[in-house]
Amino acid sequence: MTRAALALLLFAAPLGAQPKAETVTSKGGVVVCVSPPAAEVGLATLKKGGNAVDAAVATAFALAVTWPEAGNIGGGGFMLVAPPGKAPTCIEYRETAPAAAKVDLFADGKVTWLNNKAAGVPGTVRGLALAHAKFGKLKWSEVVLPAVELAEKGFTVNAALAGGLNRVLADPKTTNAEFMRVYGKPGGGKWAAGDTLVLKDLGRTLRLIAEKGADAFYTGELADLLEKEMKAEGGLITKADLAAYKANEREPIRAQFRGFDVYGPPPPSSGGVALAEMLNTLSHFDLKKMGRWSPEANHLIAESMKRAFADRARYLGDPDFTKIPAHLTTPDYGKKLAGTIDLKKATPAAELAPDIKLNEESESTTHFSVIDRDGLAVSNTYTLENSYGNRVVVRGAGYILNNEMTDFNPKPGFTGTNGQIGTKPNQIAPGKRMLSSMTPVIVLKDGKPVLVTGSPGGRTIINTVACVVLNVLEFEMSVADAVSAPRTHHQWLPDAIRFEGAKEHAELVKQLRARGHTVTEARQGDAHSIWIDPKTGARVGAADKRLDGKALGE
Ligand code: GLY
Repeated sequence: MTRAALALLLFAAPLGAQPKAETVTSKGGVVVCVSPPAAEVGLATLKKGGNAVDAAVATAFALAVTWPEAGNIGGGGFMLVAPPGKAPTCIEYRETAPAAAKVDLFADGKVTWLNNKAAGVPGTVRGLALAHAKFGKLKWSEVVLPAVELAEKGFTVNAALAGGLNRVLADPKTTNAEFMRVYGKPGGGKWAAGDTLVLKDLGRTLRLIAEKGADAFYTGELADLLEKEMKAEGGLITKADLAAYKANEREPIRAQFRGFDVYGPPPPSSGGVALAEMLNTLSHFDLKKMGRWSPEANHLIAESMKRAFADRARYLGDPDFTKIPAHLTTPDYGKKLAGTIDLKKATPAAELAPDIKLNEESESTTHFSVIDRDGLAVSNTYTLENSYGNRVVVRGAGYILNNEMTDFNPKPGFTGTNGQIGTKPNQIAPGKRMLSSMTPVIVLKDGKPVLVTGSPGGRTIINTVACVVLNVLEFEMSVADAVSAPRTHHQWLPDAIRFEGAKEHAELVKQLRARGHTVTEARQGDAHSIWIDPKTGARVGAADKRLDGKALGE
């Protein structure tokens, strides 16, 4: 058994109550994200006449400066956009495997997540440019320059950022000299809330992007710097990989649940498919009548998660390389899955798909939600994979590289008891996108957005989002309560429920164990969300305070 699996099976000390979400109410635009200075940039963009996509792009660039553990230009992600009166669309900007990547890159265990070979071809700058070109109102430079200013002039570090920086800098695994130079506190010592962080090289890179557009990142001087960094440290990304990278517009996955239309990202994220499977399964039960913290409802929620994650492992990967079965998201299939659930007893995970097991996936990503005064809604999740990616800063360019290649299945054909999966759909191939769990979601009622949500957390992302969506649509909680409420996670294997609320709900835990579930406890997610009241049109932004979120309104 892996250490991670063992940790999941142990019952950790109780966490205590979840922090209450911070809310803002507005008739105009709302921005909710993890980092206060980035939320300020989003709000300022709305106030100067930008729409929600302008604000989202500006917030994303600002987060690359102010939330370096996951905000990025060296990674990738998914952005859902719901234009008023139109069906939502997905801007997909997941990283790709470089042309030189071999299927067995990680097979002998010598290449780690801290290696430059673990970096996929970054997608963020092309993705943000595609979203802006399609929907933005302001000039490109206007949505990039606020991040330039933050990086060049510096910004105030808060307690959450100081804690994260101190942890990563003290970790003996952090060895990249440029990372330590750029993110170490000038003069030495630990970062503290109130300090100023200046990122000159990143500011220059962002200024080039502001002036010359996304091409500045993918060709020319910045591409030279990345290729040089790769060559110096045995990495795979070339200028040709960068020049060939394209972001895609894709049709989101839609599930209908209790009269709402729930839109999530399509493959190469597993989020939309898995969420649709869970909602289609759970629609056959009256969870509300059972009660939010009843053993009946929580047993069903965990069983639906388990089944969706077994399918995720078996079928999902980059749709340009692997055929995704169409039945997975159909109501009929949800009905069939519902019929396989024993109401009194947990189904052992091994019985659902005995042939496959999962590899590990990092929990460091970030999500933000935006709506503007006209009702254009944006739900964006993006990531470097691990916290601070592969912990390498590209010399001269000042940005952190992702380690997203580790989201591929590491060892072809080897599915082992240590939790690795070796099945075909998510194996490495040149130009292929690695499977993601990112789940930015927009829920519509009668064609209008009512809920914008998403979260970081590796595979827990999908279940955090499922919990928030169920809390609002099924249990009719306010968005603040839905975000604050303890979350559940079951990812099929290890065969255990992770539950944030074991202390407040000790009797529920006892009852779940009586049904045969193993229950462990861990913090989960960071779900910055917006509720739009369908009757009054009022927008309530709810900042998750598990880290340090901020909700701002016009
Ligand atoms: N790297 C985390 C994810 O894509 O789900």
